[in-house]
Amino acid sequence: MTFSKQIPLLLSIFFFFFPLLKASDPKPCYTASCIHGSFNGKIQVRFPFWLFPKQPESCGHTGFNLLCTNHHETTLKLPNSETFLVRDIDYLQQRIRLSDPKNCLARRLLSFDASESPFSPLHLLNYAFLTCPKDDVNSPPYKPIHCLGNSTTSFIATRLDLVGSMPPSCQIFKKLLLPVSEPIAYMAGFAGDLNDQDLWLKWDSPNCSVCEGRANWRCGSINNITLQVQCFSSVNSGTNHLNSI
Ligand SMILES: *[C@@H]1O[C@H](CO)[C@@H](O)[C@H](O)[C@H]1NC(C)=O
Ligand SMILES: *[C@@H]1O[C@H](CO)[C@@H](O)[C@H](O)[C@H]1NC(C)=O
Ligand SMILES: *[C@@H]1O[C@H](CO)[C@@H](O)[C@H](O)[C@H]1NC(C)=O
Repeated sequence: MTFSKQIPLLLSIFFFFFPLLKASDPKPCYTASCIHGSFNGKIQVRFPFWLFPKQPESCGHTGFNLLCTNHHETTLKLPNSETFLVRDIDYLQQRIRLSDPKNCLARRLLSFDASESPFSPLHLLNYAFLTCPKDDVNSPPYKPIHCLGNSTTSFIATRLDLVGSMPPSCQIFKKLLLPVSEPIAYMAGFAGDLNDQDLWLKWDSPNCSVCEGRANWRCGSINNITLQVQCFSSVNSGTNHLNSI
């Protein structure tokens, strides 16, 4: 057998044993993920988040617990709401992007409540949800929310100051402050189907942006009661608990 023919064999041996080597080396606070192996776009979980059941609670902060589903999706449950799917975590800007597992974010936003969680909306805008006779709003510029409503009634979400431009047959169902990611995106015309976007939330503390902004440094807690954090070297250590500066 030539050497080049042995490479695939060597690689498969390496990839078979590599996870075992990692598993036998206890580094519970190393970045975790619900998906095994490398996959572009997988959600990397690290401080202040912690991933159940792959990491102990001590790897993260209260309220930052994420959970893997049986389908290897990463989820977040806020105290006063059902589970969201985690789409992205921006550790530098301290933002998390969420979506509704049932693809009906509009329904979730109607009763959204981030209180008692460490997260808050990026921006809030005054919105109105309206119910309209289906036939009056089934063409542009109106974009009924596809997952709400029934055979006769459509739901539409719009900025409060645009309610006057809706057909007079529509009735206000609910007025609320809606969490939005970019106020600019909503400035023109009607909101459209709220399900076309995801929900971005931010967290202000613990504040890890200084550590995250430096290559090869990671954030960790000094103490699990206060929100004090410190930067740790992630080079060679793979944990949040070594080589503090
Ligand atoms: C905080 O740390 C102490 C000492 O290390 C530990 O006994 C306690 O369980 C921790 N609390 C939480 C919420 O992790
Ligand atoms: C459709 O929804 C509206 C508003 O919720 C309700 O008043 C109406 O009875 C519903 N119609 C049907 C056919 O379910
Ligand atoms: C986090 O700390 C940095 C540096 O001290 C500061 O510039 C930034 O505004 C802080 N972020 C928040 C959300 O408080």
